[in-house]
Amino acid sequence: MPLICFASPKGGVGKTTLSANVADMLRRQGRTALALDLDPQNSLRLHFGVPVGDLSGFNAQLLRRPDWRSCLRQAASGTLLLPHGAMELRDALEYGVALERDPGLLATPVREMLADPRVVVVADMPPGPSQALAILMPMANLVVTVLQSEAISAAMLAEIEAGRFLGNGTMAALFAGRLQFVLNGVDMASRLSRTAAEAVARHLGSRLLGAVSRDDAFAEALTGQRLVADAAPGSRAAEDIRQLAQAITALLPANATMPPPAPPRAAMPWTAPEWGTH
Ligand SMILES: Nc1ncnc2c1ncn2[C@@H]1O[C@H](COP(=O)(O)OP(=O)(O)OP(=O)(O)O)[C@@H](O)[C@H]1O
Ligand SMILES: [Mg+2]
Repeated sequence: MPLICFASPKGGVGKTTLSANVADMLRRQGRTALALDLDPQNSLRLHFGVPVGDLSGFNAQLLRRPDWRSCLRQAASGTLLLPHGAMELRDALEYGVALERDPGLLATPVREMLADPRVVVVADMPPGPSQALAILMPMANLVVTVLQSEAISAAMLAEIEAGRFLGNGTMAALFAGRLQFVLNGVDMASRLSRTAAEAVARHLGSRLLGAVSRDDAFAEALTGQRLVADAAPGSRAAEDIRQLAQAITALLPANATMPPPAPPRAAMPWTAPEWGTH
């Protein structure tokens, strides 16, 4: 039922890393997590072990109105995944125009995903404002905005406060309390990182869901196409993700508690799951 979007005013701040690892952690905490890639970079799949050469996906085919269930993958761990799929530049331009004309192209399948009360959808958004984010924002329980612990985040605080940075709907999400923040890449050994983190935390108060340390365990896990809780369960990274997933869960509706997921089908990492009847 709940929808959590990971967004950010600027690129390369850790949205994909955090959405993949939070989806995995929510699954470990007993939920049925669906990781949804809405970024044409098509990189969320890499965290779940989909081979680099496997370019198929849901969003890249959206103009042909695919049945999203037929694009679903299931990681060996049990997390469900809808990869974005590879897109030619011409298709990407056409896609933007089509979504503007007909938001239902994306809104309808996402609404269907959310109709299943067992499922928590975790969406990885492109950097900055996007048509996809404008469409999803009204449906989202939480828009988790990822900020890097660096000077630019501190410098942008006024913009962040004003809630203009993610485009249409951001202000409404901000005032509805659905816009929450995460500081990523906090390095307590760096004076700059520490000062920026303190400034952002002071400013955002309770809207700051948590902080994630700078930890090479994230990149190392990705190199092996794994999640940190698998690759480095005792790491700072895994602990920070655990706390972030808990903070997110605390903000979700109470009735979103899921029955335990079916055990993963171990030997076949990429079988399509049987999707519940609804
Ligand atoms: N807390 C962290 N500690 C160390 N490295 C990190 C951390 N978070 C992310 N990274 C690394 O930073 C790089 C960018 O992360 P990621 O791709 O998740 O960012 P993004 O916001 O999704 O980027 P884009 O805007 O291009 O989609 C990756 O190499 C990732 O491994
Ligand atoms: Mg990304």
